[in-house]
Amino acid sequence: MRIVIRIGGSVVANPINTDLMAKYADVIKVLKMQGHEVVVILGGGSLAREFIGLAKKLELDMNAQDEVAISCSRLFAQLFLKKLGDIACGKVAVSLDEAEQCLGEGKVVVMGGLKPGITTDTVATLVAERVHADLLVKGTDQEGVYNKDPRKHPDAVKLDRLTFDELAGVFEQNEHKAGIHQILDPEAVKVLRINRVKTIIVSGFKPQNMLAAIAGENVGTVIS
Ligand code: UTP
Repeated sequence: MRIVIRIGGSVVANPINTDLMAKYADVIKVLKMQGHEVVVILGGGSLAREFIGLAKKLELDMNAQDEVAISCSRLFAQLFLKKLGDIACGKVAVSLDEAEQCLGEGKVVVMGGLKPGITTDTVATLVAERVHADLLVKGTDQEGVYNKDPRKHPDAVKLDRLTFDELAGVFEQNEHKAGIHQILDPEAVKVLRINRVKTIIVSGFKPQNMLAAIAGENVGTVIS
């Protein structure tokens, strides 16, 4: 299968968790050995938010805030790419063209952010569309998608399945803001509603869940 894996900055970079990054490198190696083609996208986590804060203090506009956050995500991507070694392309892909080319060379693609106005969730959906991925898996800081925000509502219930059309209804934010954090960002939801790439949301703190989800086991929330 062609698989796009999105690892939330809130998971590996909030604070930076090198043990977890190393475990994810092992997961990617297993997937590669199983014959899958893999794209990995890392977010910028608290470092990105810190730089957004600095940019705001300097009274820079939203575009500039986004740009420095993108650089942070690319730094994590570079660290991860180095950890993967030979199975990955020589450098972090910074465009959809580069991602497609790297995948065509039989290597693992590693990316951070792409352009202002989105988050790496949207990068994941755009790459998935470009490379005709069979599956997109996102490791986030919750067990899946809930009927309401579980951080605000203790009675929130995790949903096992959702359709692309139901997706927009479960999220509160529907507009981009620098540093936004929700299970899937609003732009990504819009892209998914159009490209309809099967997506599974799992807890990013359990890398084995990612393997289980890809193997078809019942974990997280499946959006199809
Ligand atoms: P990230 O996508 O790096 O967030 O976006 P994250 O750390 O993984 O967070 P979770 O775990 O999904 O919540 C951080 C910020 O970087 C900018 C945006 O400001 C975004 O809110 N960004 C990121 C872009 O502008 N463009 C991109 O392509 C990626």
